[in-house]
Amino acid sequence: MAQLILGLLIGLALLTWAASGIVQTTAREWFERDVRSRAHLVLAGASRSLSQTWDNPQELQGELLTIARDERVIAVEACGVDFSIRSSTPGFPEEFSCTQVGPRVRTSASTAFNAAESLRDWNTVAMLPTGRVQVTAMPVSAGEHELGFVIMVQDLSYIEAREGKARTFLIVIFVILAITAFGVPLLAARSARHEWSLELRRLLRGGGKHSGEFQPILSDLRELVGRMSSEQQEIPGQWTAASLKQALNRHLHGEKIVILANREPYVHQRAADGQIEVQHPASGLVTALEPVMRACSGVWVAHGSGSADRETVDLEDHISVPPGEESYRIRRVWLTEEEQQGYYCGFSNEGLWPLCHVAHARPVFRAEDWRQYRAVNQRFADAVCSEVDSRDPIILVQDYHFALAPAMIRRRLPAATIIAFWHIPWPNAERMGICPWRDELLQGLLGSSILGFHTQLHCNNFLDSVDRYLETRIDRENNAVVMRGHSTLIRPYPIALEWPNHWVETAPSPEECRAQVWRDWGLKPNALLGVGVDRLDYTKGVEERLLAVERLLERYPEFRGRFSFAQLAAPSRTTIERYSELNEAVEALAARINQRFGKDGYQPIILLRSHHEPPEVFRFYRAADLCYVSSLHDGMNLVAKEFVAARTDLKGVLVLSEFTGAARELTEALIVNPYDLEASSEALATALRMPIEEQQDRMRSMRSLLAQFNVYRWAGKMLVDAARLRNQERVAERLAERTHADIQATR
Ligand code: G6P
Repeated sequence: MAQLILGLLIGLALLTWAASGIVQTTAREWFERDVRSRAHLVLAGASRSLSQTWDNPQELQGELLTIARDERVIAVEACGVDFSIRSSTPGFPEEFSCTQVGPRVRTSASTAFNAAESLRDWNTVAMLPTGRVQVTAMPVSAGEHELGFVIMVQDLSYIEAREGKARTFLIVIFVILAITAFGVPLLAARSARHEWSLELRRLLRGGGKHSGEFQPILSDLRELVGRMSSEQQEIPGQWTAASLKQALNRHLHGEKIVILANREPYVHQRAADGQIEVQHPASGLVTALEPVMRACSGVWVAHGSGSADRETVDLEDHISVPPGEESYRIRRVWLTEEEQQGYYCGFSNEGLWPLCHVAHARPVFRAEDWRQYRAVNQRFADAVCSEVDSRDPIILVQDYHFALAPAMIRRRLPAATIIAFWHIPWPNAERMGICPWRDELLQGLLGSSILGFHTQLHCNNFLDSVDRYLETRIDRENNAVVMRGHSTLIRPYPIALEWPNHWVETAPSPEECRAQVWRDWGLKPNALLGVGVDRLDYTKGVEERLLAVERLLERYPEFRGRFSFAQLAAPSRTTIERYSELNEAVEALAARINQRFGKDGYQPIILLRSHHEPPEVFRFYRAADLCYVSSLHDGMNLVAKEFVAARTDLKGVLVLSEFTGAARELTEALIVNPYDLEASSEALATALRMPIEEQQDRMRSMRSLLAQFNVYRWAGKMLVDAARLRNQERVAERLAERTHADIQATR
């Protein structure tokens, strides 16, 4: 603001300076013209008496002295046609005497001097030691007979004094204008702000009369203030695992949480050597929720998908995790081949996944898959209900695998607080309409108390879908849907990372990670490294990413032989045809690029198609010069956030697709359209050439955002909202009971 005002003042000063120059030139012209015409008038008026006294030097002198009496006339001289001085007043400047002016104005030397012709329009302005003067000459004649001419010298120094006054006047006017222009609106704004704050205070306290100015945004304001004040009460400073636990104790009386998510956080696999290994699956959902469960404790109900999962559970299919720490339990649910095929591969991943992502894969909806989806949702809902230990438990239902579960749980536990979170995008209503079971999906989700998405856009898309396909009431003021008397709040909660992050805290230093990766992959000391970390999924834009690397090497030869891109690609959903096609396409593409640009041990694409445990993933994050996240459509994308979290050295550049939810938060990344290979290859080049100070500035700012908006805050906000909702419902319930009792008593 101060800068703006300073800029405006400098602008105004320059304007004043320019204007005073214009005024000065114009005023001077006016004054000089004025003096000239006065001179002509005076001389014309005196011409008769001059001609009459022309031959009498004494009388002529008297006439000249009369003319020179005027205060601005310095001196007058009468000249003959032969340029002789006939008479002159004292102090006439020599440089304008008859002998000087005559030859200067004479038009032709060959003919006799003709004063009328030569002196027509003759005037001059000159600088004398005494100041500026105006010199005017006029012919004198007696009838047809030319007698000679008179020269009059006038003082112009008074004009300068007047110009000075005009300039001062102008500056004063400009200063007054400036004060009026800035001061008056400033005062008006202050007084308006004062009025508005009084009005807002009145409104938010809910009392007294108000002018109605804020009526259109009243509900938004109340909601905002409600959210801010609850956040302030709940979170003194940054959210941590401890403060999340504390919030849970304070608002939900330490009730344990039951999470329902298809993917389990720890998968037990039997390795080739017969040993049982524990794997952390590649899943954004798991990355985010696992730290929440460690903080809160409770049960995570999931599909037991590991080859050694059955061997590691107790009689009730439970296992305590994390290994060695045991802060919560996983309850494993077993699925048959058919269930797995219909519910997971079929309806979830061939139907809903492509339906919700704009990534050009055609959704497939089979009646058999839908039947399995419904049945498996029921099985998991039953498993959840068997895990709770109160009539009003807190249940977190996660993702598109369980759209029907909230309503199924609600039927068995009407007082439960069910928070559903949809981790992927929600399409627009038109696109949602192509699903034959869209109404059932919407009704299923509306069994929850709160339904969360990463962005407001996805909330809006959901509300539009409900509006178009269901008979419900949409409470736009509270962003809620009321269906058969039950209300579901629809809210954006952008998911985040554990901060501080335990994988980062236990990782070797960035220098050690870099040295290790350089050693493992035989990179030259001056090599540059990019990294991509994904499940091999067509929504991640892996092909576009490799093509952008190829385009980079085509356009910028300086990076050939130097820049390598390591793509960590975890095989995913491999029994689905579209995924196996992608697997082959990526392999062929990497081979082609390596063939084209690789030589003497240099490999532009390092394709690592296997599962990677977090320590290895974080080693690459910490070693790389850039990370490219090129999703074609993504609800959030936690890889982008993980890369930033990993860079404790503030080095490295994030190149991020504009089609991720993360791009709305990580605005200091280089944001690209991954379909635009020119722009994305250029962004890669910019990243590789970015000065270290700029890398640090960008990283610092993104890291401070991630520290503040961490996953404890994400979960905490949902739980606090749920607690508030629960209180409201309890109060309403008690009120209803009392009213009922009163009615009974009066009968
Ligand atoms: C996405 C989904 C998660 C899922 C993850 C991995 O992030 O939103 O629900 O767990 O992909 O997919 P997978 O099919 O292996 O669980």
